[in-house]
Amino acid sequence: MSKIFIDACFGRPTPYTPVWMMRQAGRYLAEYRAVREKAGTFLDLCRNPELAAEVTLQPVEIVGVDAAILFSDILVIPLEMGMNLSFVAGEGPVFSDPIRSREDLERLRSAEETAPRLEYVYETIRLVKERLPEDKAFIGFAGAPWTLATYMIEGQGSKTYTLSKKMLYTDPELLHAILRKTTEAVKLYLARQIEAGVEAVQIFDSWAAAIEPAKYDEFSWKYMVEIAEYLKERYPHVPVILFPKGIAAFIERGWVYGNFDVFGVDWGTPMALAKEKLGDRYVLQGNMEPTRLYSKEATQECVAALANLMKEGRHIFNLGHGILPDVPVENARHFVRLAQELSRRD
Ligand code: CP3
Repeated sequence: MSKIFIDACFGRPTPYTPVWMMRQAGRYLAEYRAVREKAGTFLDLCRNPELAAEVTLQPVEIVGVDAAILFSDILVIPLEMGMNLSFVAGEGPVFSDPIRSREDLERLRSAEETAPRLEYVYETIRLVKERLPEDKAFIGFAGAPWTLATYMIEGQGSKTYTLSKKMLYTDPELLHAILRKTTEAVKLYLARQIEAGVEAVQIFDSWAAAIEPAKYDEFSWKYMVEIAEYLKERYPHVPVILFPKGIAAFIERGWVYGNFDVFGVDWGTPMALAKEKLGDRYVLQGNMEPTRLYSKEATQECVAALANLMKEGRHIFNLGHGILPDVPVENARHFVRLAQELSRRD
């Protein structure tokens, strides 16, 4: 059976434009909060395939999205490379042993040692596959090497990325060595996700905007493209989605290149600009401002405009970044229904 989400990723005609939401499995759902409570910590939930599968499926059942995204986190890669990760309430992720030197990097496990340690993720994928309705697609994901490196170097989330950027200008070889090791791990990890059953993959470069445009290709984009091309060579039937957040300047200069299928447009980039610069080469995903979800009118205005701009297709509805934790579920459902209805072509 052909799945509308997969067809849309390849630019094939579909009866309507499919929709999903970044961070759709999360705290805005009471059902998620209940399972999270039962699991213990957030990492306990990520490492519990039965419960992780359950929360992966929740937004499909409750909100009606056209695709499920694996419930996990981008930081399980550095975790299984050997770093000490915890999630501190109200502060987000913290590594107590950040990577600041070659010796620190040497300590980390290789890609070949890391990928098999993520067996709990592959088991989650197999469980989801058994239960996912057959018309819905299943998306796997990983963090972009640059975004992972910022957490590994800073040791936590950052507003300024000072240590990562200082390394970029003062010791670029070390930063490239970190990015290389991480890139190899992400390649093997995503290949294993595909072998376990995901049908598309997205690479999140959430902190792309921290790098100046003149350095973005060298320190982030080229590694993302390398991962995409590694996967396309082995799994041409699996769409690859790249999501670099906050790089309108990069798009404007027409620098986007590489063999992948879908370009994720963040909310700060006008969809009309992305369409003009990239729309003939990539299917575009996005890009409603997530805060619009608090207002049904603001949601309606944006969905109608996107449906009109992208009426010939080659589009996947999504938010331009993750859904916020206190959005009313009813509003998320409203967004999904509107996207499916206003884009209907049959
Ligand atoms: O999209 C989905 O629904 C799938 C699950 C998913 C999570 N994290 C679950 C999560 C995905 C795809 C991610 C990706 C992720 N994780 C990114 C890239 C996407 C983005 O938003 O830019 C980043 C930067 C991270 C790192 C991370 N994980 C942070 C900064 C935090 C803390 C901030 C927060 O929202 O609390 C997390 C924790 C996290 N990851 C939660 C969830 C549902 C909240 C944990 C909880 O239940 O308390």
